[in-house]
Amino acid sequence: MRRSTVKELFTDREVNTDVLLKGWVRTKRGNKQVAFIAVNDGTIIHSIQVVADTDKFSEELLKNVTTGCSLAVQGKLVESMGKGQKVEILAESIEVLGKSDPEVYPLQKKGHSFEFLREIAHLRFRTNTFGAVFRIRHALAFAIHKYYNDKGFFYLHTPIITASDAEGAGEMFKVTTLNLDNVPKNEEKKVDFTKDFFGRPTNLTVSGQLEGELGALALSSIYTFGPTFRAENSNTPRHVAEFWMIEPEMAFCDITDNMDLAEDFLKYLIDYVMKNCKDDLEFLNNMVDKELLERLQFIVDNDFVRLKYTEGIELLKKSGKKFDFPVEWGLDLQSEHERYLVEEEFKKPVILTDYPRDIKAFYMKQNDDGKTVRAMDVLFPRIGEIIGGSQREEDYDKLVARMREMDIPEEELWWYLDTRKFGTVEHSGFGLGFERLLMFVTGMTNIRDVIPFPRTPNYAEF
Ligand code: 4AD
Ligand code: MG
Repeated sequence: MRRSTVKELFTDREVNTDVLLKGWVRTKRGNKQVAFIAVNDGTIIHSIQVVADTDKFSEELLKNVTTGCSLAVQGKLVESMGKGQKVEILAESIEVLGKSDPEVYPLQKKGHSFEFLREIAHLRFRTNTFGAVFRIRHALAFAIHKYYNDKGFFYLHTPIITASDAEGAGEMFKVTTLNLDNVPKNEEKKVDFTKDFFGRPTNLTVSGQLEGELGALALSSIYTFGPTFRAENSNTPRHVAEFWMIEPEMAFCDITDNMDLAEDFLKYLIDYVMKNCKDDLEFLNNMVDKELLERLQFIVDNDFVRLKYTEGIELLKKSGKKFDFPVEWGLDLQSEHERYLVEEEFKKPVILTDYPRDIKAFYMKQNDDGKTVRAMDVLFPRIGEIIGGSQREEDYDKLVARMREMDIPEEELWWYLDTRKFGTVEHSGFGLGFERLLMFVTGMTNIRDVIPFPRTPNYAEF
């Protein structure tokens, strides 16, 4: 008999038919006559109840049916008498596929803290919360591809190993095959990278944008969706060293078009999850964050505020609020400032634009005031910055001048500069942090709980 998933059993299978179920036991309870076994296979948040008459099964077999063990159950799917579930299975045969010693199985009891579950990240998929989070993660990834495919964007695979630092922040993980115990040196006593695998220094990418721009300046509209690596030593609930980023890049597109796309994109994704992940969201709304559904609906229903950085600074100064970090024109905003604007000042997502050029990357289009650039950050409640983007400097001379000011070697980015030499056009793009979005959508407050295997300073266990 073909196995039915729990999802199929709840949605597609007719009652009073024979079915085969395979999954992992969540709980077992009962009495002398009957055992109730809750089985989950991860296809849906709900577990299905298996009803086993004790006179049909040996004590020996039922003793091995413990939390965490895997089972194959054959039986009849029937309407459930009990509350809380539509259908259940009257077991005809039960086979324990893999035992789980109750003395040592770490998920024996319910209600573990997220911190504890992080230490057993290899097993936390088996909890309701993490099942929901990772099903939603999948749904969102799918929705992202659907959104851009429907809009005629092309998915471009930008390299993971690069020789450039797109953001110029120097937060890169080096990639090398040199023997670190015996590093070859050149005449100047510096590392001799000509002996390295690529014959030059390389690193893991911090962003696919620069390569993405090359694609957009030929294919019109592209997006990347890949892993991104940053060796920033920030142990916050919003930073990981390996995260996934979605970076659309569009030719013939200015900062206003860019903001329109960012807003539409975020609303589409949130709406998609609300329509397609109802059970999981309801679970998270009940168990993790009681205002989750309301907050998601609010984003879909409301226009984002659009505000210049300079105006944002004025509002922060006028707020009379005590912040831990200083508020001064020219300084970058900290997440406390971003969250004040979003959560207290406007009570809506905010797109902040036209930041001081000295706190932004070299590629952003310079405004005529000589002080600001056409940057746009989308700030969200509870998260702060969820998207960072900009219109790009398409003028060759201005771009080169800015690179010189910032000591960015032109000869290393000759291929990037070429696009400004040959048929340059206005273009823009942004990067959405996938895990930041997931935090917002699931209500989880620590980024380590929305990525299967988080990498953070001093931590890469699994
Ligand atoms: O603002 P960022 O650094 O922008 C870029 O990388 C541009 N090249 C994007 C572009 O214009 N194509 O990063 C974009 C987003 C941030 O807004 C944030 O959501 C996320 O990436 N992000 C991180 N997420 C988790 N952990 C980290 N350490 C992150 N750093 C950035
Ligand atoms: Mg940023």
